[in-house]
Amino acid sequence: MDPTPKRPRYLSGVQPSGKLHLGNYFGAIKQHIELQDHGECFYFIANYHAQTTMRDLAEKLSVEQSRKLKAADLLRQNTLDVALDYLALGLDPARAVFYRQSDVPEVTELAWILATVTNMGLLERAVSYKEKIDKGIDATVGLFTYPILMAADILIVRSNIVPVGKDQVQHLEMTADIAGKFNRAFDKDIFPIPTYKLDKESKVPGTDGQKMSKSYGNTIEIFAEGKPLEKTVMAIKTDSTPMGQPLNPEPCNVFALYSLFATSEEKDELAAKYKAGTIGFGGAKKLLKEKIDSYFAPFRDKRRALAAKPDTVEDILRDGAKRARIETQRTMEKVYKATGLR
Ligand code: ADP
Ligand code: TRP
Repeated sequence: MDPTPKRPRYLSGVQPSGKLHLGNYFGAIKQHIELQDHGECFYFIANYHAQTTMRDLAEKLSVEQSRKLKAADLLRQNTLDVALDYLALGLDPARAVFYRQSDVPEVTELAWILATVTNMGLLERAVSYKEKIDKGIDATVGLFTYPILMAADILIVRSNIVPVGKDQVQHLEMTADIAGKFNRAFDKDIFPIPTYKLDKESKVPGTDGQKMSKSYGNTIEIFAEGKPLEKTVMAIKTDSTPMGQPLNPEPCNVFALYSLFATSEEKDELAAKYKAGTIGFGGAKKLLKEKIDSYFAPFRDKRRALAAKPDTVEDILRDGAKRARIETQRTMEKVYKATGLR
């Protein structure tokens, strides 16, 4: 086995399945960016994983937008969008290895090998698979074996820590199980057993008070601005307390969202206004919109500049894949040797 690296190696993947929102930012992306100061980071766009749901998504969006969307075009567009979002929000390609999953073919190669040590029973217990087919997503073999591909993503760069949301914990437990099974089967410590690190903000509320999520249609997009942003913020659900009456900040969605951006003094100040009845929900929403605008303004500028240079983004992803493949090929050499494939 490799000597334990001095700095932990973090890895995480994001599916290119739509516009990123404040839940993704405060739940995951912000932490991903901060981790660049604390270890070696590998971040990738999980476009192979997205294949399992992309046709379903294209169909859904085609109905919503009354125009025929092709799954392939949607995947290409979403992949570029995620790359732009991450780079604009502070992913530094000089410090983090940033790549597109499909540019690293060793991942799918390892997934096959891992499939041969993975028990059916393990996959049959996957909650996420069941939830997806309950939602009407095609029950394909790809969807069923999704956790094996995820294990390959993680194990192939021999990462130690995987920052994820709660919904991914079972997949991480499966990864640890598969890694242990492989190591025991071939009597070699090829894969370090990874652990997970739970995202900080586990539940950013959406505009309707439920957890913010693409699937609930209650998101505030990170890169929304101007009128569309104003419309979304103004539509955040509140109770019907009339203007001039004291308001309770605790259960208020507007207050919860404002708190994500505010200093503790600003938060106390707004809470005091709520309780004194000197601000209404409309006023609080205006403050929230101002906070969103000022927080994301520099990121928006950066995103615009990058979007004008798609070749630069492509170069960054290709360079990331090249660097990732140094690690993935190293792992595969050990796997070939241990399994007798070479
Ligand atoms: P969605 O629910 O919109 O489909 P994803 O499941 O793609 O979002 O989310 C990717 C990651 O973003 C999750 O693993 C989680 O860490 C984070 N995340 C998503 N929504 C929220 C939220 N409302 N609050 C906190 N974190 C969230
Ligand atoms: N399944 C993850 C999600 O839906 C995305 C993902 C794919 C991932 N491979 C990964 C996350 C490896 C962490 C590590 O959010």
